[in-house]
Amino acid sequence: MAGSDRGSYASGFVDLDSEVTVDRLPVKGAFPAWLTGSLLRTGPAKFDVGRMTVNHWFDGLAMLHRFSFTGGGVSYANRFLHSDSYCEAVIKGALARGEFATDPCRTLFQRVAAVFSPQLTDNCNVNVDMLGGEPVALTETTLPMRFDAETLEALGHYGISPQVGGAISIAHPHHDAHRACRFSYVVDFGRRSRYRLFAIPDDGGEQRVVAEMEVDKPAYMHSFAMTERYLVLTEFPLVVDPLRLMLAAHPFIKNYRWTPDRGLRFHVFDKDGGGLIASAESAPAFGFHHVNAYEDGDDVRIDLVAYADSSVIDQLYLAHLRAGDTVNATGRLTRYTLRPDRSAQVQVAPLATAMIELPRIDYDRCAGRNYRYVWGTGRRPGAAFLDSIVRIDVTDGSTLTWWEEGCYPGEPVFVSAPGADTEGTGVLLSVVLDARRGTSFLLVLDAQTLAGVARAECPHHIPFSFHGSYFPELSGTRGK
Ligand SMILES: [Fe+2]
Repeated sequence: MAGSDRGSYASGFVDLDSEVTVDRLPVKGAFPAWLTGSLLRTGPAKFDVGRMTVNHWFDGLAMLHRFSFTGGGVSYANRFLHSDSYCEAVIKGALARGEFATDPCRTLFQRVAAVFSPQLTDNCNVNVDMLGGEPVALTETTLPMRFDAETLEALGHYGISPQVGGAISIAHPHHDAHRACRFSYVVDFGRRSRYRLFAIPDDGGEQRVVAEMEVDKPAYMHSFAMTERYLVLTEFPLVVDPLRLMLAAHPFIKNYRWTPDRGLRFHVFDKDGGGLIASAESAPAFGFHHVNAYEDGDDVRIDLVAYADSSVIDQLYLAHLRAGDTVNATGRLTRYTLRPDRSAQVQVAPLATAMIELPRIDYDRCAGRNYRYVWGTGRRPGAAFLDSIVRIDVTDGSTLTWWEEGCYPGEPVFVSAPGADTEGTGVLLSVVLDARRGTSFLLVLDAQTLAGVARAECPHHIPFSFHGSYFPELSGTRGK
């Protein structure tokens, strides 16, 4: 843990090099007997790559983590994701492809070559999900990486169809259980750039373009919203001139400009081929994560974690994090209500005063529908980094908080108890860094009360990761 003070969150940004498989982790408390699946997560784990150090939290080389539960026992495995980006970096002894805020292209020749033969990164360190029935790791390009959920072995890219095309995409597709597909979108950069929404059937069938929209300056959008009938793109006013991006004079995100005069723009698309239904504008704001959205009569309500501006990105540069600087950009759960037939008006209302990030909901029950609970990581007053887990009741803004001295929890993944007939009945799974001990543990909380249920101790620290998914069973998800 050299290079960081014991007790500081900064120890979550120290590289993890060891790859292990542990059949039984030491456990405290009792894991629910019904918890028999696996939590699969991805996140950056290597920031010092050969002779260079990446610039930003989002740039580290991806590692997969698997926690599997059986009969109260917990097994654990971790493995670097052997993407092309990873393998090239190992050979080169330095980052080989451009990441979010690090561009390894040093020479003019390399820059020009990259324009004609773009090498998108497949360093999938943002999220784990299923596409076409296969587990995949995702980043913000059109190169999701399939992997074996048992061994964590990389199995090659999940093919995005040529009709969908594009280069930049998102790591937060939405699952529509009724239509048996996942929705996502790409940004297709060119003389005429486009947002293109598409669907991937759960059975791996033919991908379908749902709608597209021309755009002169595409926005940086990390996620989008889904209701029962609509897909909603929220254009934060952090936008890029596509020409600037193609000339690649700067790392990816450095080409984007905060342009508050544009306001915050919502574009509502019909899921079933009806195209763009409405656009609406509100006061400028920035965000990474939509929480949920739903139709309420003629209104569309869109809940997201909103920031005043995009400075949160700047606060997450690695030098700040490794120094233990205070990250005080504050995201708040905010509701935007618009009415597609009167598209000009958007009502904005904060839903709670608590700071929240990495939000999760009772997704299988509530995605696209009216709902009550949001769980996420929080930051208590005076804390330097995300140091707690919060549950917000969106009906009245009331908030519960879990925290423990010297501990820094990651995204709390909600798992519904079998047969649960009410929203939010189940547990939360969160990987927590215990900075005092320099190791991490998997924490189980009661999702309704945030009372501690159990924990399993990992043999090492796990660098702060972003997202993951709970898979009820791994059978049928092995590599094909
Ligand atoms: Fe995210």
